[in-house]
Amino acid sequence: MAAAAQTKKRILTGIRPTGALHVGHYVGALENWLRLQDQYECYFLIADYQALGDHFHDIDLIRKSVTDVALDWLAVGLDPQRSSFVIQSYVPEHAELTMLLSFITPLGMLERNPTLKSEIDSLPVERRSVGFFNYPMSQVADILLPRAHLVPVGDDQAPHVEMTREVARKFNRMFREVFPDPGTLIGRVPRLRGTDGAPKMSKSRGNVIELGDDAATVKRKVMSMYTDPTRLKPTDPGHVEGNPVFDYHDAFNPNKAQVDEFKARYRAGTVGDVEVKRALVEALNQFLDPIRERRAAFQARPKLVEEALMEGTRRARLLAAETMRETRAAMRIDTYTSTWN
Ligand code: TRP
Repeated sequence: MAAAAQTKKRILTGIRPTGALHVGHYVGALENWLRLQDQYECYFLIADYQALGDHFHDIDLIRKSVTDVALDWLAVGLDPQRSSFVIQSYVPEHAELTMLLSFITPLGMLERNPTLKSEIDSLPVERRSVGFFNYPMSQVADILLPRAHLVPVGDDQAPHVEMTREVARKFNRMFREVFPDPGTLIGRVPRLRGTDGAPKMSKSRGNVIELGDDAATVKRKVMSMYTDPTRLKPTDPGHVEGNPVFDYHDAFNPNKAQVDEFKARYRAGTVGDVEVKRALVEALNQFLDPIRERRAAFQARPKLVEEALMEGTRRARLLAAETMRETRAAMRIDTYTSTWN
């Protein structure tokens, strides 16, 4: 058993603790994490250092979100016995590896990163810090520290994994083979629209359905959801493409025959928004019910949440120390004198 565990490949992935998780996180990433827990040795990172990048003015939110994210993970069924939940700043090697790798990374890699570019553009000038600019670099270190083989993420994160591959290859070439070449795995629904029809769910726009929303909240959000603005009456032929109500049906309604029938009737103008939305409320609430149940159970036992974080972090520390020893040795910056260490 122990030998088998050692031969498992590793996953590292993570989330910034800047708010509760939503249903977009589920179909974009968490679903894959759940599925891969047996096959891989998984490290799930709560990236609080990275959260400082655009939330240094709101440490209260970060503090609260560290346990909220852990609770969301437990609620969806991630298992802290099989997988390691890790608090990033409790493993300071993340910062050290970020710094070391920054010296072999050309500035152009950050300047060209499309995700970073659009995020910086949407930040007010006074919040554009050096640390924020450097966050993809720290994400490279997050992935390389446990020497991960696979990174299951939402599709906006793909450029960061691409950068990780480039940095890993360069390090291995310049010094010696320390890091594997990690693959990217994108979720079933790479990007779920917001309830307002925006291309992405984001808390700041208030267009999210949280994994922790109660049934009445889900109902309210779905019933007021953006649909087809060109359709004025239920007898008008409607658009299914780009209509979030149907995107959500595709993502969360297991009854595919019902979804297909709704689509056909919507296009023909023989079904109203209200009927389609009611069925979506039902599908979403059925999907969320077991998650809510597990969340309530863990909320009642906060010690379990804390233990999950501490045990996972402890396992990550052992691996981090080993990688740093190898990294320093490969770079030959581990010994300068004969008497230290
Ligand atoms: N950038 C990710 C997010 O905002 C969080 C993250 C930090 C991450 N380190 C990572 C994701 C390493 C994958 C791998 O959600």
